[in-house]
Amino acid sequence: MSAERTYIMVKPDGVERGLVGEIIKRFESRGFKLAALKFVQADKELLSKHYADLATKPFFPGLLDYMTSGPVVGMVWEGKEVVKTGRKMLGATNPLDSAPGTIRGDYCIDVGKNLCHGSDSVESADKEISLWFPEGVVGWERKLDAQIYE
Ligand code: PPS
Repeated sequence: MSAERTYIMVKPDGVERGLVGEIIKRFESRGFKLAALKFVQADKELLSKHYADLATKPFFPGLLDYMTSGPVVGMVWEGKEVVKTGRKMLGATNPLDSAPGTIRGDYCIDVGKNLCHGSDSVESADKEISLWFPEGVVGWERKLDAQIYE
């Protein structure tokens, strides 16, 4: 069974709109394993590290304002190809390009309020998990894995 991990975050609009449970439910129902979860009021310092690659983008200040406008829910999900599959489940970054059936395709419209974040590679996931969970992620054994993986 793969121990690949991704960092999925419900952004402040998703928390405010009461979509945390819906997003968790989709990952749980798919068969992925929740490895860590936390509710965080992030500050600009933390978010500047998370979005360091975007520091020169014109939308960066607005992105920091949005992401500090309320708490976020950070999660680590584990499973086979969870990074790539997690991104598919979230949908395209611009919600208007997101297919119906994806989280963004079902629940949002504008890129500046796109509900959720998912790591774009295994390397990014490792960095993001270390950033948001500096205390580490405690592993646990899920007994029903035999019903999910062949
Ligand atoms: S880029 O420009 O191609 O590097 O950006 P992209 O990969 O499409 O998106 C990277 C993250 O920036 C967010 N984003 C925005 N936020 C607010 N306003 C605007 N206009 C905007 N454009 C992009 C986008 O949601 C991505 O955030 P995450 O958290 O990774 O989804």
